[in-house]
Amino acid sequence: MKNYITSTSLRLARTAAAAGFVLASLMAAMPAAQAAEPIVIAHRGASGYLPEHTLAGYELAVKMGADYIEPDLQFTKDGVLVAMHDDTLGRTTNVGTLFTARNGGYKVSDFTLAEIKTLTVKPTGTGSNSYAGFTPLNTELRVPTFQEVIDLAKSQSALVGHTVGIYPEAKQADPLMENQILSTLVSNGYTTAANKVYVQSFSDVTLRSIDVKQKAQNLDMPLILLGVAVTQADGTAMMGLTSGTALSFADVASFADGISVVINYAAGPITKSFIDQAHAAGLLVHSWTFSKQDPVLAAAEYKKYLEMGMDGMFTNYADMAVEARDAYVASIPEPSTYALMALGLVGLAVAKRRKVH
Ligand code: G3P
Ligand code: CA
Repeated sequence: MKNYITSTSLRLARTAAAAGFVLASLMAAMPAAQAAEPIVIAHRGASGYLPEHTLAGYELAVKMGADYIEPDLQFTKDGVLVAMHDDTLGRTTNVGTLFTARNGGYKVSDFTLAEIKTLTVKPTGTGSNSYAGFTPLNTELRVPTFQEVIDLAKSQSALVGHTVGIYPEAKQADPLMENQILSTLVSNGYTTAANKVYVQSFSDVTLRSIDVKQKAQNLDMPLILLGVAVTQADGTAMMGLTSGTALSFADVASFADGISVVINYAAGPITKSFIDQAHAAGLLVHSWTFSKQDPVLAAAEYKKYLEMGMDGMFTNYADMAVEARDAYVASIPEPSTYALMALGLVGLAVAKRRKVH
């Protein structure tokens, strides 16, 4: 049977194969873009600029383009969830000027919501009481309730035209806190990741319990385990807990959707291999805290972790994080660009070969 494969079609086949090889090589060489655009999480609000865990600080973070606002959650004496990092009121409020100590201190759980609402939240770190050119809708620097943070996220979503996410952290390993976080979220319409919500904790026991409770209620909000990066001598990456134990990624993936690990931790550096292994186990990788105030140093740090494949960053300076994330995303060529680059290279190779012959 006459061979119908002409020399021209053979050449075309070879060119197509070469283009495919070059395309695959280019794709492999380019930074592996994260499955979704990396997210910017306002760590305790715009805490590098305004007092942490205040409605003004959360609002500023939204104005700066943060994708999520983070309320750490504590219980008041009368069982209300409030946004407060510490389990005591002394570091971030003027409680000492208004109340005498109780049980030897100023635990959040020793004061009622009404008493806590009389306090003023003061700036810490690089924060101050105001931010040039910004007048918050709520100028009172009070301790907000979890519900007030949710209300702010929703009202801001309407103002900015996209959903402002929330990323609450259970600061106590307490079944009652688990239940109240879930019930508050559900009563506000949060049920899955689509509602732009994450629930985080340092306690794997807490997240394992919330996972069971979510399944029983047909909920599926993503859970994030907090800790440190651990890489064993053989290169195996694990999740280090503040308790000192380490969990395999397979174990973490059985109850959580991702991890959040501390950056610049000498004893537990985050590497591309660590992130790749977490991704291979189906885990998102977020990290904290991006707190460099110098724009040049900050930009370099964001770029470093984004290029490793980081999926989300807790930052005290949402404006700089958004700028760095947007620059990174813009630097990743569209897939169609790869194809054009590949065909161009092959075309050059073919033209060169013809010239030689
Ligand atoms: O949740 C991420 C990060 O906020 C954990 O550290 O102490 O700031 O709550 P911390
Ligand atoms: Ca936190």
